[in-house]
Amino acid sequence: SKGNHRHFMAKEIYEQPEVVGRTIAHYVDFSRCAVRLPELPFSFRDVSRLSISACGTAYYAGLVARYWFERLARLPVEIDVASEFRYREVPLDPGQVALFVSQSGETADTLASLRYAKDQGQHTLAVVNVPTSTMARDSAVVAPTLAGPEIGVASTKAFTCQLSVLLALAIGAGRQRGTLTEADERRLVEVLAAVPSLMTEALRSEGEIETVSREIAKAKDVLYLGRGTSYPLALEGALKLKEISYIHAEGYAAGELKHGPIALIDEAMPVIVIAPHDAVFEKTVSNMQEVAARGGRILLITDRRGAAEAAMDTMSTLVMPDCDPVVAPLVFAVPAQLLAYHTAVFMGKDVDQPRNLAKSVTVE
Ligand code: F6R
Repeated sequence: SKGNHRHFMAKEIYEQPEVVGRTIAHYVDFSRCAVRLPELPFSFRDVSRLSISACGTAYYAGLVARYWFERLARLPVEIDVASEFRYREVPLDPGQVALFVSQSGETADTLASLRYAKDQGQHTLAVVNVPTSTMARDSAVVAPTLAGPEIGVASTKAFTCQLSVLLALAIGAGRQRGTLTEADERRLVEVLAAVPSLMTEALRSEGEIETVSREIAKAKDVLYLGRGTSYPLALEGALKLKEISYIHAEGYAAGELKHGPIALIDEAMPVIVIAPHDAVFEKTVSNMQEVAARGGRILLITDRRGAAEAAMDTMSTLVMPDCDPVVAPLVFAVPAQLLAYHTAVFMGKDVDQPRNLAKSVTVE
């Protein structure tokens, strides 16, 4: 049931502090301040490459995870959408790890990629939400997300639960590889523990988001920009908006702006900038200034520190709670989801059953 919510999507957005909390608790031993990995038939110490494949929103979770595995575990990651990975004839050294991310566990291309990886002698590791799914059965190791059933076609809570599992895995990999100390792990576990309440705080911006969604609803095209882990989040924000509101939206790495998309900037195309106050914040601000200088209207999604420092004239600025940059993707997913949701609802679209889309894509 939808409970007090008008749509499953809203219910699932609001469930996130709870299901993300539950998922984190599954992967973290709070009494020891340590992550708890599923039983692995390999050690990350012996791995020299991680290959990730997935589709859609699950692919964007994988893109975020690339930054985490590379930064925290110094583990090189290659990632592709499963529909390409399965046909690319990727050379894979036996004994490496192939990771798959899927809510349904039934996506045809991801499943085919998993089988290809297995044939190539890879250790397979699947992050799945449906425990009885084909992927959960076929993968050597399963790392479950505990999002519960996701009914809305647009993935929301499954995405943030995927991020939670992937971050825990990256921390665990970092410990096994010796790139993170026990003290680092303890600190990161504390950062993880704070995520549910940060998400609750992020949900409080709903009223403001609803107001700004009126502006977004007038647009024919919307550009999302982000750097670092906010880049995949920009892609995810654009996907959410296009799939339920049918407004054309594109996500771009902020640094790519001047390599083409800047030509599109005018007052008719809102530019949504996702910029937590992290190591690349100032770079993103300078890209934002380039947008403003060309008459672009900016919706800045940042945190308190970022809002204080950016000092820019924007169409609107949404202020998220300050958080450790490592978990910013989990917190900033919330306003991206709410913005797509309210825009689509305002436009009278069927957000739970968008046209042409199915919850589970079992054909290629
Ligand atoms: C987006 C969305 C899709 C799925 C994709 C993969 O909101 O729902 O892009 O993320 O079809 O599905 P799963 O995760 O079931 O493999």
